[in-house]
Amino acid sequence: MNYRILAIGDIVGYGAVECLKRQLWTIRREFGVDFVVANGENAAEGNGLDADSAKTLLMAGVDVLTTGNHVWKKNDLHTVLRSGDPVLRPANYPSKCPGTGSIIRTVNGYRVLVINIQGTTFMEALDNPFDTLEKVLEWEKGRYDFSVLDVHAEATGEKQAIAHCFDGRISVVFGTHTHVQTADAQILPGGTGYLTDIGMTGPTDGILGIRKEVIIDRLRMKMPSRFTVAEGSIVLCGACFTVDPDSGRCLECVPVRRELGTP
Ligand SMILES: [Fe+2]
Ligand SMILES: [Fe+2]
Repeated sequence: MNYRILAIGDIVGYGAVECLKRQLWTIRREFGVDFVVANGENAAEGNGLDADSAKTLLMAGVDVLTTGNHVWKKNDLHTVLRSGDPVLRPANYPSKCPGTGSIIRTVNGYRVLVINIQGTTFMEALDNPFDTLEKVLEWEKGRYDFSVLDVHAEATGEKQAIAHCFDGRISVVFGTHTHVQTADAQILPGGTGYLTDIGMTGPTDGILGIRKEVIIDRLRMKMPSRFTVAEGSIVLCGACFTVDPDSGRCLECVPVRRELGTP
């Protein structure tokens, strides 16, 4: 039996959390999904992931939550990150930071290694993502059946470079952070399923999930402003990956875009 993994792109705002709470178990059944990984770094108002939203999403059918550069915005998440709950922060943050960047979860009979890494091009100068990934894979060797990587990065080239570097060693590689889904779903030559950015799960009537006026003013006037989540209908963007659990090869990578309605 093949194994199906649904990756959900950056969840923006409480409305998106609410829609997933109501609909994710139905979507899991409909798509025949075995495992759900979701990036939750923008779930809270004004960015970040708060402890309540993290718990709600885990109860709603998310098996592992990943994050990114906004992971430290909500202080109450630090406790969650330290608790052993399946909530990750990028693995290449300094080792003294709360939490971990990888976890193995056994779901539907298979041990799935999920890794969260952050790019360093046009982003904070964290540890080298390539070297960090080598270390994680070496450390976890023999303990998992197949692996999934969320590359939280700004530059498409950096995401592609990481995917090709680990082609055949990581079953599924997908990008997050830009909030715009790319049109390059593919299986790389070594058998890794890949999509440069799986997009955003949040309100469509905004700019990257934020109120349009806020972003326009910020870019036009170069003045700092507080991010306010846009209102209206929510869309789920992500990708569905089918993996052959015996070989670890990804057989299919299908982008997902699904209207969830108003929260
Ligand atoms: Fe981000
Ligand atoms: Fe984001």
